[in-house]
Amino acid sequence: MKEQDNTKTSVTSGRHISSWLASSEPFVTAPLRENIETDVVIVGGGIAGLSVAYSLMQAGKKVVLVEDGNIGSGETGRTTAHLVCALDDRYYELQRIFGEEQTKHIAESHKAAIDFIERTVSYENIDCDFERLDGYLFLHPTDKEESLGKELKAAQKAGVEVVELPVMPGIKDPSRSLKFYNQGQFHPLKYLNGLCKALQERGGRIYTGTKAEKIDHKGIVTGDGFSVKADFVVVATNTPVNNKYVMHLKQYAYRTYVIGAKVKKGSIAKALWWDTGDFSQNADIPPYHYVRLQKLDNEYDLLICGGEDHAVGLVEENKISEEDRYGLLEYWMRQRFDAEDVIYQWSGQVMEPMDSIGYIGRNPKDEPNVFIVTGDSGNGLTHGTIAGMLITDLITGKENPWEKIYDPSRFKLFSAGKTYFKELIGGMINYLKQKPKDAKSVELQSIKPGQGKIVEIDGKKFGVYRDDKDLFHMVGAECTHLKCIIKWNNDEQSWDCPCHGSRFTKEGKVMNGPANRDLAYYTDKTNEEAQANNKNL
Ligand SMILES: Cc1cc2nc3c(=O)[nH]c(=O)nc-3n(C[C@H](O)[C@H](O)[C@H](O)COP(=O)(O)OP(=O)(O)OC[C@H]3O[C@@H](n4cnc5c(N)ncnc54)[C@H](O)[C@@H]3O)c2cc1C
Ligand code: FES
Repeated sequence: MKEQDNTKTSVTSGRHISSWLASSEPFVTAPLRENIETDVVIVGGGIAGLSVAYSLMQAGKKVVLVEDGNIGSGETGRTTAHLVCALDDRYYELQRIFGEEQTKHIAESHKAAIDFIERTVSYENIDCDFERLDGYLFLHPTDKEESLGKELKAAQKAGVEVVELPVMPGIKDPSRSLKFYNQGQFHPLKYLNGLCKALQERGGRIYTGTKAEKIDHKGIVTGDGFSVKADFVVVATNTPVNNKYVMHLKQYAYRTYVIGAKVKKGSIAKALWWDTGDFSQNADIPPYHYVRLQKLDNEYDLLICGGEDHAVGLVEENKISEEDRYGLLEYWMRQRFDAEDVIYQWSGQVMEPMDSIGYIGRNPKDEPNVFIVTGDSGNGLTHGTIAGMLITDLITGKENPWEKIYDPSRFKLFSAGKTYFKELIGGMINYLKQKPKDAKSVELQSIKPGQGKIVEIDGKKFGVYRDDKDLFHMVGAECTHLKCIIKWNNDEQSWDCPCHGSRFTKEGKVMNGPANRDLAYYTDKTNEEAQANNKNL
């Protein structure tokens, strides 16, 4: 498996390297080193930020994009890159929440996003393995028989090209399936690199290694103290780091897991596959599996299987640790596909909105020239592309039929109901459990090398990580977003916040927002003491 030193957040947000990072060149520029002005400043160099920047440039706007790490070091570098209008939250649910007319617009927007990517790949001549292919949704054994029929009817009503089949090609599972025509897939980082090149060739400015530390309606100020003044500001940081409360009460962060196994070229017909989700897990969003192929070399393809999701920091509920999820995934894969060695594993983060659809538009309770993109769910590549089209229309003053649907100010709590409350309450209970008064402090000596734990010292909580050389690394345990207590993720060797999904390295550096400030990090003193005494602090 490919791993990185996770102090290098510029590469990717975790220890494991995805197959995309391993098979593409990182796009890196010089950081911003002067004060500049532009029409639009965009924060975040993932699919959302780059799609917005590219579309605005096509509409004649001057754009500046700043990215904390490299291009694609966020979740776009850890995705699986299915491009679909077969959405991961069912069409019958969308019709219940949004009604039939709006659901048609939702389907149409995702189809338009795939078309947009296809056109751009061709127009810009981007070599990113884009291809059209069909996708198959099949019943998880724990799901009700009738759910496929319900989805077929609802998706057809929404204008999606889909039929029911008695079998499913390419997979050992004999289940019935729905065949969704004309979906897509690509190599996400090669696509981003192509957008960057097109942007730069036409005057767009990109600064990697540049963190937007202060963001308001006038522009941004970087961690190094340089400013970008702009007429419009777009925050595309996956979860908005400029929004303290409102948006983080409307979405919840999940972790999701991926393995990549070698399969002989041509042994499995190319397609996308998804099951309907494991209803036995008593989760409000039943974790589902998602599978595709990607070319590896002349002899083999990579079978990329994802799934085994859980709310960030909340693995206790079903007692399966983060690192054990890959084994489950492999077991599931081997029952259905003839694959050889597993050569990749990685995990990533998805933001689940309370009512299933992303948030794209004006930042609530902010000035009207500040925009956000978030709440992508498992369809962030099309959502990010929709953001490019929609935010460009909003900024250039064009009407867009999707504006209301994706408006971040919408609030559909009562219709969303069940899907959301449990996670919110779960996060709060977790927070309460961790209040110092109730907490059991753990002695440092009980921490095994390579592991982290929350420890209470003098009434204050710390996240303590013990490395392989027996040195302790301590971070303040209060998340810098809204002070929930972080938890150790042994799989990606990171500190994860169960409230809204912020993640930090073992040295306390932010890897995922909404937190935008690092945790306090204590090391020298701790290490000296640990080495000298090898006993509790
Ligand atoms: C395992 C996995 C599988 C998935 N599969 C699919 C799929 O098959 N199809 C699909 O459509 N979607 C899928 N998704 C979802 C999709 O990948 C994401 O929703 C999407 O990539 C998010 O893109 P983004 O641009 O919003 O965020 P990101 O790609 O995370 O980009 C945000 C960027 O902002 C930067 N940033 C953060 N804070 C700052 C700051 N203060 N200053 C400057 N820069 C900052 C980060 O470094 C990061 O690069 C999957 C996600 C995962 C994790
Ligand atoms: S992410 Fe909101 S408190 Fe940690």
